[in-house]
Amino acid sequence: MKRPVWTQKDVCRGPLILVNASHPIPAKRPPRLAPALPDQGNVLLESHAAKSLAACVKASGAQGRIRAVSGWRSRAEQRQIWNDSLRENGEAFTRSYVALPGCSEHETGLAIDLAAEAPEIDFIRPDFPRDGVFAVFRRLAPSFGWIERYTAEKEGITGIAAEPWHFRYVGTPHASILTSQGLCLEEYLASFKQGAIRFPSSEGIFHIFRIACRPDGVTLPLVLPYEVSGDNDGGFLVTVREGSA
Ligand code: DAL
Ligand code: ZN
Repeated sequence: MKRPVWTQKDVCRGPLILVNASHPIPAKRPPRLAPALPDQGNVLLESHAAKSLAACVKASGAQGRIRAVSGWRSRAEQRQIWNDSLRENGEAFTRSYVALPGCSEHETGLAIDLAAEAPEIDFIRPDFPRDGVFAVFRRLAPSFGWIERYTAEKEGITGIAAEPWHFRYVGTPHASILTSQGLCLEEYLASFKQGAIRFPSSEGIFHIFRIACRPDGVTLPLVLPYEVSGDNDGGFLVTVREGSA
């Protein structure tokens, strides 16, 4: 049987890609997009991310209480937001709260800005509270594959100020591991350069490891179920599931 080959172009694809000022993504066609929430078709997300966001909002009992403010953005939209913010808010504010065009997670369709439903919502810094149904959403988000991406503690690593409204889809079980270990995505991905991890959970035992992409791509001689994501840093994260924990 011919095994799948992951090539250089796949390194910048998948739910675990790192996107920040030092890890831009190439301009490319948008992913398969879907409404971020079923009743909010004006904001779009990558289709798997959209499905899991809707499921998390439903599980939180927060339908009708959460507004999807901004999801997938084209590079042109990100550039427009950057330029508008520079003009209206100045450079220090803009560098804190807006990623450079080409370096925004919003361009992947894997990031969403959320707000508490309200008559007026700030587009760049929406209010997404930490109490009530919003607290429930925050607690459940990792089990649906979502992380709060920019926290005050990790500002020095992410290069972005605290954004309690910006969530990033990385998939399961990664979001739960990251959150329980108090790591930001940069730290989580870097940890695989030191070695593999084993994560027992109710879904099974996960083994996660990184392989560097070779010039002719990589093949995986695995028999267990596995998923592969590029890391946008020269390699792939392989997640293997071994039965039940
Ligand atoms: N607000 C985040 C950093 C972005 O513009 O992607
Ligand atoms: Zn955002």
